[in-house]
Amino acid sequence: MPDTNRRWLLASRPQGMIKDSDFRLDEGPVPEPGEGEFLVRVTYLSFDPTQRGWLAADTYLPAVKIGAPVRAGAIGQVIQSNHPGFKPGQMVQGTFGWQEYVVSKGMTETGPVAPVRAGVSPEQALGVFGVTGLTAWFGLTDVGQPKAGDTVLVSGAAGATGSVVVQVAKALGCKVIGIAGGKDKCAWVVQVAGADACIDYKSENVAAEIKAHAPKGVNVVFENVGGEILEAALMNLALRARIVLCGGISSYNAEDISKMHGLRNYMQLTVMRARMEGFIILDYAPRWGEGVAGLGKLIAEGKLKTVEDVQHGFENCPATLRRLFEGKNVGKQLLKLTAPPLPVV
Ligand SMILES: NC(=O)c1ccc[n+]([C@@H]2O[C@H](COP(=O)([O-])OP(=O)(O)OC[C@H]3O[C@@H](n4cnc5c(N)ncnc54)[C@H](OP(=O)(O)O)[C@@H]3O)[C@@H](O)[C@H]2O)c1
Repeated sequence: MPDTNRRWLLASRPQGMIKDSDFRLDEGPVPEPGEGEFLVRVTYLSFDPTQRGWLAADTYLPAVKIGAPVRAGAIGQVIQSNHPGFKPGQMVQGTFGWQEYVVSKGMTETGPVAPVRAGVSPEQALGVFGVTGLTAWFGLTDVGQPKAGDTVLVSGAAGATGSVVVQVAKALGCKVIGIAGGKDKCAWVVQVAGADACIDYKSENVAAEIKAHAPKGVNVVFENVGGEILEAALMNLALRARIVLCGGISSYNAEDISKMHGLRNYMQLTVMRARMEGFIILDYAPRWGEGVAGLGKLIAEGKLKTVEDVQHGFENCPATLRRLFEGKNVGKQLLKLTAPPLPVV
């Protein structure tokens, strides 16, 4: 077994776009599991825009402490265990963070360490059956409540969450309009994810294009981006529209509130008797089985394709997180550290 453990620690709170110097690569001994503990070798890391918020300030979770490993969802293999519930060789999922090895008692910052279900790949466990897919599922079905025949507008449509929302909305019988950055991504959103149309926010007038594709307005907005894109959506609401405030990535790197794009036309909610509601997927933990079953059924029926963007190498953690804010990813952003099965102790 290697005797060195690498960890990416938070060196300073990022200002603006994250930089390599916001992090410090630390090398130390592989930790030893004590009584009631087990050792996990991390094999895959999940990259999520919300990590940018965790680095900056207390939000729905406390901010990552300076000097602590960067918080991240992960898959790993148990390689040594003094815990009756975890066996060497077992694949597990938890918020293990940016570190190659981690000792656990079975609980992480966002919930218990869970075995990866048989037949589910690590990519799917962190993607469609993880926080990403479940966010799409519950955000759309529970908060957005689309009906067959509704028009659903999805921003960030080529991303991890957005691409699942597009496909679930299509499976529910909705007309779907995506918004994404660039012609290639838009072609992907239509041709692969199956949207009826996709607007390139980098080269098109978003409000005018929404109006052209949905002259009677949109019934559901699944909002991942915020700012001017949300304003364009609000200009095109149908009566009693539901706006699912999933995320607002366009402001995640803003240095402070004065640099954020304020929502100028919120009175459209009043005019159109619309509802805008935020949600945090962790609140749905008691219902995750329901979401996994719904997503699994759509995959089995061939109505939901899972798409992952897999980068390689632990040294690339900061660069991989930056990809989300540079729009480089299509589908779920992952980083592969090593491939199981690994030698166990
Ligand atoms: N509420 C919850 O519980 C919850 C849970 C999970 C995720 N979320 C939110 O869901 C959203 C999507 O997350 P994800 O994990 O699926 O990430 P993602 O969409 O796979 O990746 C981020 C994408 O955002 C777009 N983007 C980046 N910077 C942008 C900017 N300044 N303006 C417009 N678009 C920009 C890029 O796509 P383009 O190339 O198209 O610009 C990029 O590929 C995020 O806002 C995230 O915070 C919320």
